Amino acid sequence: MTSADRADVVIVGGGVVGCCIAYYLTLGGARVTLLERAHLAAGASGVAAGMLAPQVEAPFADPFFELCLLGRAEHAPLAAALLEDVGLDVEYRQTGILRVARTESERVDLQRMWRWQSARGLAAEWVDSDDLGTCEPLLRGVAGRLLAGALWLADEGQVRGPRLVQALAMAAAQRGARFVEGTPVVDIARQGERVSGVQTPTEVIESDTVVLAAGVWSPDLGRRIGLDLPVAPVKGQILSLRGLGKTPRRVIWCGECYLVPRPDGEVVLGATEEEGNYDARPTLAGVNRLTEAALEVVPAVGSFSIDGFWAGLRPAAPDRFPLVGWAPGLEGLFVATAHYRNGVLLGPLTGRRVAEDILHGSGLGELAPFGPERFDSSWNAGPSVTDR
Ligand code: FAD
Ligand code: GLY
Repeated sequence: MTSADRADVVIVGGGVVGCCIAYYLTLGGARVTLLERAHLAAGASGVAAGMLAPQVEAPFADPFFELCLLGRAEHAPLAAALLEDVGLDVEYRQTGILRVARTESERVDLQRMWRWQSARGLAAEWVDSDDLGTCEPLLRGVAGRLLAGALWLADEGQVRGPRLVQALAMAAAQRGARFVEGTPVVDIARQGERVSGVQTPTEVIESDTVVLAAGVWSPDLGRRIGLDLPVAPVKGQILSLRGLGKTPRRVIWCGECYLVPRPDGEVVLGATEEEGNYDARPTLAGVNRLTEAALEVVPAVGSFSIDGFWAGLRPAAPDRFPLVGWAPGLEGLFVATAHYRNGVLLGPLTGRRVAEDILHGSGLGELAPFGPERFDSSWNAGPSVTDR
């Protein structure tokens, strides 16, 4: 290794979280190397539906909800900056989400959300079942018969996840970041109680700071140094559909599935929730579950053609909140994972806050309650193979 290869920060993992951190670090002038064992967006970030949707799944306001609202606000200016920087449209759109109630009990729950979110001054409207067909023509014929109204959330947005990853990486590379694909990190190097870089199969790359942003695989590297990261997969399967001339006007969301219309006519149908499943291949049962759920609410999708289907592993902590912060016990190691269902939504805010903290020690602001120390990390300071 030459000293030119030395980085201020090495990032492990080329998903949306790793690439957001790389982007904001390079904006702050840091020398960054990002190592990805496969290719950028090879993990969950490559299959995500890309919804920017803090309101649709929030039963009440809590610090996580506030975090997600701030996360959503990051996207419009970031999309504009990336277009300016690298000329790539990440397809940020404020398409809104229509969350339909299929039963009386869902109607009661959604109307409760509608009331507290409206009282907070957020965009939230109730649509009676008689008006649903006008609001969303694809629901004509079903509204009233099967549906008990819907919650309309006009400020929810979307972005195309893999394109966001690509644009962030291009912008970071323009500012000197080095992206090394097809190269796994096999260990974290350290000197005593301090991180000194990472070990790949062929070399040690030295750095002052290492950021572990390897999604659901982060615990594998944590274990190498005795850090017990409680992160497990929640597998999600997703289909890409096409229905000429009759795509939904907005995102349609029901309890079991969602349909996300893209600017180019693609309609994404997602997603399953499969706890603890490390097999990232789509299955017939998954496709069947999504298809049944979609046909029940929007029978018109029955004529849509299928362009493809995928699955990804959402990295999830036991409490379903992100794990972002300095690792306890080893100086210079930063953990940024477990964004579960909201990694695309929260990636830019996480990236900005992590970069500010690494570069200026400014703390993590609204991310501070989501540090890894909230779990009882069993920490063993025994020697690592790369202790040097
Ligand atoms: P990943 O994207 O999984 O990236 C981790 C990367 O690390 C991978 O590329 C992997 O190859 C690499 N890696 C692993 N180990 C190593 C190693 N040892 N060395 C080098 N590289 C390594 N979120 C939203 O906000 N909105 C949505 O609408 C949404 N929809 C989703 C739909 C589905 C079906 C799924 C599965 C997820 C969805 N999510 C959504 C969640 C979102 O995709 C994740 O939270 C996010 O992608 C996690 O990003 P990450 O960078 O932490 O992990
Ligand atoms: N946020 C949607 C999903 O994870 O499926």
